[in-house]
Amino acid sequence: MQQTLAAKRILLGISGGIAAYKSADLVRRLKERGAEVRVILTSAAQQFITPLTLQAVSGNPVSTTMLDPAAEAAMGHIELAKWAELIVIAPASADVVAKLAHGMANDLLTTCVLATAAPVAVAPAMNQQMYNNIATQQNLATLKKHNIHIYGPGAGAQACGDVGYGRMLEPLELVALIEQTLLPLTPLIGLHITITAGPTREAIDPVRFLSNHSSGKMGYALAAAAAAAGATVTLISGPVQLATPAGVNRIQVISAEQMHAAALNAAIKSDIFIGCAAVADYRAATIAPGKIKKGSAETLQLTLVKNPDIIAAVASLTERRPFTVGFAAETTDVLHYARQKLNSKKLDMICANDVSLPNAGFNSEQNAITAIWHGGEQVLELQNKVTLAASLITLISQLFSQPQTTSETNK
Ligand code: C5P
Repeated sequence: MQQTLAAKRILLGISGGIAAYKSADLVRRLKERGAEVRVILTSAAQQFITPLTLQAVSGNPVSTTMLDPAAEAAMGHIELAKWAELIVIAPASADVVAKLAHGMANDLLTTCVLATAAPVAVAPAMNQQMYNNIATQQNLATLKKHNIHIYGPGAGAQACGDVGYGRMLEPLELVALIEQTLLPLTPLIGLHITITAGPTREAIDPVRFLSNHSSGKMGYALAAAAAAAGATVTLISGPVQLATPAGVNRIQVISAEQMHAAALNAAIKSDIFIGCAAVADYRAATIAPGKIKKGSAETLQLTLVKNPDIIAAVASLTERRPFTVGFAAETTDVLHYARQKLNSKKLDMICANDVSLPNAGFNSEQNAITAIWHGGEQVLELQNKVTLAASLITLISQLFSQPQTTSETNK
């Protein structure tokens, strides 16, 4: 596991909500990445999870009250507020959000927030009606104005049976946002990144085509993350139903041949090229000029010819070759085939993507990847494509800027 949060001091506040059961996992994930974690439990939180659990996973005493002389003697509330490099409140109940918005300090957690100079983040978790309530929305707007980071919430089924916004983000999604808050991405300023995304469509006749299930979500999330990290981004996109991310220059294409031409043109002006598109391997040898009629025969034969391999062409450029990252969507022997492609296509890095997993890959909101490069690899576990893209862009920028540090293996 890469120590992305090595020695970072994170104070985790847990308030009362059913999502508190996920906070123990969050502590574990932060510690895996090298962070030092201390935990404050509000009194309501203790109805959902015990101090003992959090003490065991964090390896540190857990604070629950300001009025405990022993705890204050060990590390008082002001010391705790000064110790933190980041305070994260996850879950943040509607009540805690309201208290913070009004600067209240009537328990240990809210007092620490007022007493800290460190950044503060909240991960709201509450019933969707409570989240949508105008009072909560105004309180969250106030927190934003006070430069408090708001992580999520996500949408979906809630413990109370409702469906909507108000779910706490999953621990790995929170970890990616914490990494972004503590390690702002700047290494891409001044760099040009070209990304291909989505499927291609290979016409058979004027009304029919061959294509695949790629939604473009992963490529678009990468484009958004790269732009957020300061890069100039060219997104060469096949046909998808997605809005162009802010600040991204999108070039729209339909077929693999069009994508090939646009990609080579952009690649020679780029520092980094990421081939995320699901390019059709074959196209019709001839496109029928008129609609192919249903004949009396029971079968119809199409002759297909191979499309150019776009990423292999980019990686084989002899002049102005960008750092080239590919994707390998596989259903069996994923890592084996991905390593083969890393070498046969002469890539600098490949993202092995098991598209047979439920809830991952094509057309899903989530994905899991093993990034493999020459001399190392890193597993990015199942998570939202937005947070996965942010982690991947961080990794790519590290490999691009410090190739000498890429020899470690992180598994
Ligand atoms: O060979 P395969 O299609 O599995 O390789 C996947 C990788 O190659 C992806 O990065 C994809 O964008 C790229 N690719 C390409 N041109 C093709 C086929 C795949 O750029 N014709």
